[in-house]
Amino acid sequence: MRLVICETIEEFGEKAAQAIAAQIRAKSNSVLGLPTGDTPIRVYNELVKLYNENYIDFQYVTTFNLDEYLGMDKENPSSYNYFMWNNLFRHINISNEKVHIPDGKASDPHKECSDYEDSINGLGGLDLMVLGIGLNGHIGFNEPGTNFDSRTRVVELAESTISANARNFNSSDEVPRQAITMGIATIMAAKKILLLATGEGKAQIVYDAFNKNISTEIPASVLQYHKDVHIILDKEAGRYFK
Ligand code: PGA
Repeated sequence: MRLVICETIEEFGEKAAQAIAAQIRAKSNSVLGLPTGDTPIRVYNELVKLYNENYIDFQYVTTFNLDEYLGMDKENPSSYNYFMWNNLFRHINISNEKVHIPDGKASDPHKECSDYEDSINGLGGLDLMVLGIGLNGHIGFNEPGTNFDSRTRVVELAESTISANARNFNSSDEVPRQAITMGIATIMAAKKILLLATGEGKAQIVYDAFNKNISTEIPASVLQYHKDVHIILDKEAGRYFK
């Protein structure tokens, strides 16, 4: 495990973008797993900058997003599909057919999940999985109690996740109760993991994930089993690490 604690939020964005850029520069046809949320916005802004400076090229890059709300239309501004196009994809030269985001409107969501797994495996797996962490320790929408052998599937969101995500909707009643998420085993099969967290609110959970016993009660604690994890935090999120 490699831990980097950044002095400023700007440095956090730059360091995290550099870590992703290094992967793309080392392997132009990298397969990336990508998160949504507030944490990666700054990182995606920096990646767009690096693209505009001709430092990285997304032409051969393939992406798989972690999750999407079930029943969510991709044109809906609260969808993760919309988030990704708005914050990253429309600003870079990635090809449409190399972008993968679970289809929240799939007529057969369970087939959508198994097809998603097949697509990842068909490309030889994820080279780099970029992750945020939820206040309850979730990675993707793998909420506390999720089995470590889980794969891409339909899940119920935890109440704490519904409350946390209500900020992107008019009210918490509008937050979908179900989602499609990559599973813990899908994430753990990635060759490398980059875990990102910012802000004081994440300090305790990110510390516990790497310092307490590995347990399904803190889904991110499973990352202690992964042999190539890079953690980048800002000063506030990193405050409990010595
Ligand atoms: P956030 O979400 O980046 O918006 O804090 C992270 C998560 O819930 O995984």
